[in-house]
Amino acid sequence: MAIILENLSPRRDSMIYYTLKGPGSTLKSREVGIRVFMYRLYAIADLHLSGANPKPMDIFGPLWQDHQQKIEKNWPSDERDVIIVGGDISWAMSLEEALVDLKWLDGLPGRKILLRGNHDYWWKAIGRLRSLPLKTIFFLQNDHFLLPDGRAICGTRGWNCPGDPLFEADPENNGRIYRREIERLRLSLESARRAGARRATVALHFPPCSDQANSSGFIELMEDYPVDSCIFGHIHGAAQAKVFQGFREGIKYFFVAAEYLHFRPLRIL
Ligand SMILES: [Fe+2]
Repeated sequence: MAIILENLSPRRDSMIYYTLKGPGSTLKSREVGIRVFMYRLYAIADLHLSGANPKPMDIFGPLWQDHQQKIEKNWPSDERDVIIVGGDISWAMSLEEALVDLKWLDGLPGRKILLRGNHDYWWKAIGRLRSLPLKTIFFLQNDHFLLPDGRAICGTRGWNCPGDPLFEADPENNGRIYRREIERLRLSLESARRAGARRATVALHFPPCSDQANSSGFIELMEDYPVDSCIFGHIHGAAQAKVFQGFREGIKYFFVAAEYLHFRPLRIL
């Protein structure tokens, strides 16, 4: 008897219950005892690792003392978990140096979706990155990662947005980079749409807008797609207190800079 899988219905516990349908009968997965465990989704940004050339991070404050050990201790423990790593992953300047940090990440549980931050100078040709001998890492660039329930992880690095003093200091140059990054997010979201994604989580490294009062091209674009969540990092120090978070037009925004989370990946789903 042919069995068709349909009606994916995610529950709060992140399990998916399939409805199994055959000719002349409909059986719910619970009735036939089938339960398919799915993933839990987490995010964290700004790991700022430096395995090849250890950089003392406590110069940024006592919270950063032994931060890599804290990350490891707090990392989700289930191999089915999915963890978005939202940029500024490694201080390394070359891919050879970065590989020390990437292999460390690769050895932690779960599937990791990596995004480039403004400090990731080692992140160059995407083909080279994707050929590295890593088992659990996906490098996100102009495309998406599709999860089994139809959720796509999309994203791009982002940039300072209009209204931000850093943008307004040189609006011409910043505007060029800002528009290019919006276009990259569009490419990513379009690739997910073409692949049949039903909903999306967007990962940015930079915040999606300059402040709560301002929208941005990133926000307007996300609102045109079935995006329900957006993670970002990049902001450090006192400015973290003013970062925009929470719901806006059906999208929930999560600020996930590592030290803001006390180096514990934040559960998104
Ligand atoms: Fe950054």
